[in-house]
Amino acid sequence: MTKPTPFIAGNWKMNETIAEAIALVEALKAEIQGVSGVDIAVAPTFTALDRVAGAVKGSNIQLAAQNVHWEKSGAFTGEIAPAMLSEIGCAWAIIGHSERRQFFGETDEGVNKRARAAIANGIGAIVCVGETLDEREAGKTLEVVGRQVTEGLKGMSAEDSRLLVIAYEPVWAIGTGKVATTAQAQEVHAHIRQLLKAQFGDEAGAAVRIQYGGSVKPSNAAELLAQPDINGALVGGASLKAADFAAIIKAV
Ligand code: 13P
Repeated sequence: MTKPTPFIAGNWKMNETIAEAIALVEALKAEIQGVSGVDIAVAPTFTALDRVAGAVKGSNIQLAAQNVHWEKSGAFTGEIAPAMLSEIGCAWAIIGHSERRQFFGETDEGVNKRARAAIANGIGAIVCVGETLDEREAGKTLEVVGRQVTEGLKGMSAEDSRLLVIAYEPVWAIGTGKVATTAQAQEVHAHIRQLLKAQFGDEAGAAVRIQYGGSVKPSNAAELLAQPDINGALVGGASLKAADFAAIIKAV
């Protein structure tokens, strides 16, 4: 079976003012002109989303949000509704990032509600999973990631899976410069692939992109992306430098 179109997304986290975000995306546009065969997205902060939406119009860069709530509207201070993201042309939402799980108490159940609401509103859900260092050292990686995938995707159909992306981000590799070896990453990706096929069927399960995230850089991207079940990357630090992010995209 042929691999799905690779998907490289930049998670800007809580970085870049509006002016900096515009400058970054303009520089990126110049760097990747004419690049094809790969899906590309950037995830700015909420305040910069609308202006970046304007800047990427007509380019091959799509827009992602860093979170989305499951309700349509109401008393949910600090949250953002799916339709509010659609309104400004946001195609994707990152859901359940380990920083949200670690610092803001997100649970698998909440991740599931957010992801299903995004998909029901036509927004692609990038569902993040990954083990901590303690969990890896205790030999629990596949169990932890398996639970996050199974609980996070509960109730989703094969039809829903067309708007689904999984990002495997080992927590110990995020922002630390420690990248998982290609064998470590591929092992977990293959496990996730089995779970996707079990839930959605072989064909739909094979079509879901599984991104790797955690210290992805121009120097390690090509080797990671060559693995059979690695279909892209979710990039933090290196996505804040247009030349580095473009080099990762070109490594596809
Ligand atoms: P780094 O690329 O900075 O390690 O961050 C990865 C990440 O958390 C992307 O969501």
